[in-house]
Amino acid sequence: MPKHAALLALVAASLLALTACPKCPQGSHEVRTSVVSGKGFTFSLNDQAADTRVESGYDLASDVTYTIVASGSLTTFTTTGEKKTYGPEGRDGSKAGPGAPLPDFPYGALVAFIGSTPYYIGKGGLSGQYPAGHLAFQLNLPPGTAAPPSPTPAPPNTVTANITITLSGERIECVQDDAGPPKPKPTPTPPQWSELYASVFAPGTAGHCLNCHDGTDKKAPKWGATRDANVMYDYFNAQHVFDAPNRSFGSTADSRIIWCNPSAQMPLDQQVANKAACDQVQAWLAAGAHNDAR
Ligand code: HEC
Repeated sequence: MPKHAALLALVAASLLALTACPKCPQGSHEVRTSVVSGKGFTFSLNDQAADTRVESGYDLASDVTYTIVASGSLTTFTTTGEKKTYGPEGRDGSKAGPGAPLPDFPYGALVAFIGSTPYYIGKGGLSGQYPAGHLAFQLNLPPGTAAPPSPTPAPPNTVTANITITLSGERIECVQDDAGPPKPKPTPTPPQWSELYASVFAPGTAGHCLNCHDGTDKKAPKWGATRDANVMYDYFNAQHVFDAPNRSFGSTADSRIIWCNPSAQMPLDQQVANKAACDQVQAWLAAGAHNDAR
């Protein structure tokens, strides 16, 4: 075969390989490793400028494929005092206008900042790989919109928000096929109590239990005076809800947490489903419910 014909055949063959396996080159396969699963954040706006950026305290890596989903609501009081409520997608059919993070996107929509770049989260969420950077959240509002002083009634041209955000991320790699027997899938490592607390129970997360149970909310039983992992652990440990075999803290029938038991009521101010968070709770319980925090 003449030289250029061989070259042509080679190009054709590699094109074929590409179409046959779009993600990983031939002789390799895709492996997904969870880097972060169901990490929760709360975006609430009170007593501050509505264009305040809320830090997540989390840095994204460039080689991880992330998914960010949001639920909850945002209430605006127009300049005439009219009350309107939206989801994280913002006001339907509107544009936030000059000065907002994404001027052409809806008024009040939830925006993620990754580093200094804004991305629309909205209803559908965000999914993909992004340049490495710090993750923060902001509402898509023109500057100067204010959050009302608490307690309400809210004056005109103000916004309140109460949104729950969940972050997951997977590292997707192409790994050489090998002739050996298929390796068993690694079981996800259960979190330590300190990790579980920091990702779903601490202030600023989906649970934020001690925001009320530290004595701040007079109607909520007080677990202790500080918002830390040991206070929460000790309170529930004394109630025996971590104990085998029932481990009722995460039980689908008896848990007080709505993520595991749909008829439960906690966290009282944010009764939204969160399967990923319940999975983490149950994984920790199943691993023996130990406290590594002290
Ligand atoms: C917005 C405030 C608030 C938040 C946040 C909150 N709670 Fe509560 N919680 C209450 C109030 C008020 C009560 C008492 C009334 C009731 O039982 O509904 C209560 C009662 C409870 C009880 C029953 C009494 C007890 O202490 O044994 C449990 C258990 C509980 N909460 C767990 C949690 C957990 C776990 C979280 C976090 C995932 C949480 N709560 C978040 C306000 C809150």
